Amino acid sequence: MEEIDVKREVQAFYDSVGWTVVGDGLYQNARYEDLRPVAREYIHRCHLRVGRRLPARGERLLDAGSGPVQYPEYLEYSRGFGRRVCLDISRRALTEARARLGEHGAYVVGDLASLPFRGEAFEGVVSLHTLHHLPAAEHARGLEELYRVLSPRGRAVVVYAWGDGGLLMRLMARPARWARSLLALRARGETAASSATANLAGELPASPTGTRTYKHNYRWAKEQLALLPVAEILVWRSVNTGFLRTFIHARLAGRLWLRCLFRLEEAAPRLMGRIGQYPMFVFSKPGLDVPERKIDEME
Ligand SMILES: C[S@@+](CC[C@H](N)C(=O)[O-])C[C@H]1O[C@@H](n2cnc3c(N)ncnc32)[C@H](O)[C@@H]1O
Repeated sequence: MEEIDVKREVQAFYDSVGWTVVGDGLYQNARYEDLRPVAREYIHRCHLRVGRRLPARGERLLDAGSGPVQYPEYLEYSRGFGRRVCLDISRRALTEARARLGEHGAYVVGDLASLPFRGEAFEGVVSLHTLHHLPAAEHARGLEELYRVLSPRGRAVVVYAWGDGGLLMRLMARPARWARSLLALRARGETAASSATANLAGELPASPTGTRTYKHNYRWAKEQLALLPVAEILVWRSVNTGFLRTFIHARLAGRLWLRCLFRLEEAAPRLMGRIGQYPMFVFSKPGLDVPERKIDEME
């Protein structure tokens, strides 16, 4: 498939499906997230991880592939900024983002791999779950673009997912199959359990309305980020939605398990970023000394 066709397909998907509201004020896209109360605290704290790495204030924050800025935590990232510039290939995403951000936002239809902004324009840059929508050969170009528009006083956070699902999810694939069988027995129906665990190995549940993505592995990211002067790979969230829905349940002390997991991720962010499913790439230009914000500052 031509690169231009990949982008058209992604754009058409988000315009007509991904950002349609399917009920309870949720977008169709939210079906990929675990929204159960038992996982809420863990997911909330993972979202805040992004904000902790960004500068607390600045003139402009770029949100590349903003979507509709769908979760409340996302609003925190630009709280101390004059403007949040939302860029997306989908018009519908930006219409929804405008409804949420109003005058605080600026809205630009554009391509992450070819940003329509001058260099060093943003003190904060975020791009969450978007790079993988680019054709594989353009992921490096996307990172270069985000780096180009970053101010020397700024910092960028890119949330990505490993193409092989990460070691942790691969190790858990077999136990997940066993757990799925148990769940299916308990539910007396295969359907509910299999959809709950379908994406444990990093695959999204099969869906006629899904869109194609490509994700590189850790080695690729190491090589790319080695080209930047200041860059790290840290954990954003080590487990995926399939894992959460399979193993984490309120009646099995799920909240407690997730607190332990979060602590582990905080204690070993590089290791968990490497072996978990979702890393975040954090980079800046040389000479910056922006302190990381503490968890309780953000909560
Ligand atoms: C999975 S959604 C993530 C949205 C948002 N960042 C979030 O975390 O909720 C991916 C978004 O990236 C946008 N997108 C995909 N390819 C893009 C590209 N080449 N340039 C800009 N935006 C793109 C899609 O339209 C969609 O809104």
